[in-house]
Amino acid sequence: AIMGRIKRGALIVFEGVDRSGKSTQCKKLVESLKKQNVKAHFMAFPDRTTSTGKLIDEYLRNKDCKVNDHAMHLLFSANRWENVDKMKAFLNDGITLIVDRYSYSGIAYSAAKKNMEIDWCKQPENGLPKPDKVLFLMVNQEEIMLRPDFGNERYENREIQKKVFEVYQQLFKENDNFESIDSARSIEDVQVEVLKKTLETIKSVENLPLSTLDF
Ligand code: TYD
Ligand code: MG
Repeated sequence: AIMGRIKRGALIVFEGVDRSGKSTQCKKLVESLKKQNVKAHFMAFPDRTTSTGKLIDEYLRNKDCKVNDHAMHLLFSANRWENVDKMKAFLNDGITLIVDRYSYSGIAYSAAKKNMEIDWCKQPENGLPKPDKVLFLMVNQEEIMLRPDFGNERYENREIQKKVFEVYQQLFKENDNFESIDSARSIEDVQVEVLKKTLETIKSVENLPLSTLDF
């Protein structure tokens, strides 16, 4: 018998500074896709449920918790590596993954710190599944100030966010899978564009093999 080849799902990642609308857009996108009978699954990094995720959660919530920056970077990366088999299984089953933060967050937040080299930060990400599309939600400083305030976690302050944004902009220039989305619009308007780009991506990669990150 001739076996029909299962079309793989797409790996779609959302990136952007805190309060840029990633979580809201991700959740709405999964709902929209399901309504159109497109198989989709939501994931978020850090995945705070795993063993590395529990250490990360403690580090983020307790600002007094001192851990070596390089070690912490590797822990965030390990948290993604722990999920690789699961991610590949979804994609191979034809399920599109909508992911809230990924390697680019890992690089941007670590490289924003003193004495952390961006090239060093990229290395542990090499070999992870490469996103087919990175939707980079862009909001200017004025607009982001109008949004509900930061929480209490580490990194949730203006100075750090500004540095993180600068690294993101560099990553945007260097990576051809990045797509910038103007997120200073209504949730609905952003969603229309996000859905369109996602459906286009799903169609264009369904018969292509999944690539791996190679910084
Ligand atoms: P965040 O998505 O803001 O979690 P939540 O929605 O639960 O608030 O992620 C928590 C923080 O972790 C955020 O400030 C970015 C940071 N981060 C890293 O420093 N490295 C990483 O690899 C990832 C994925 C996130
Ligand atoms: Mg947060």
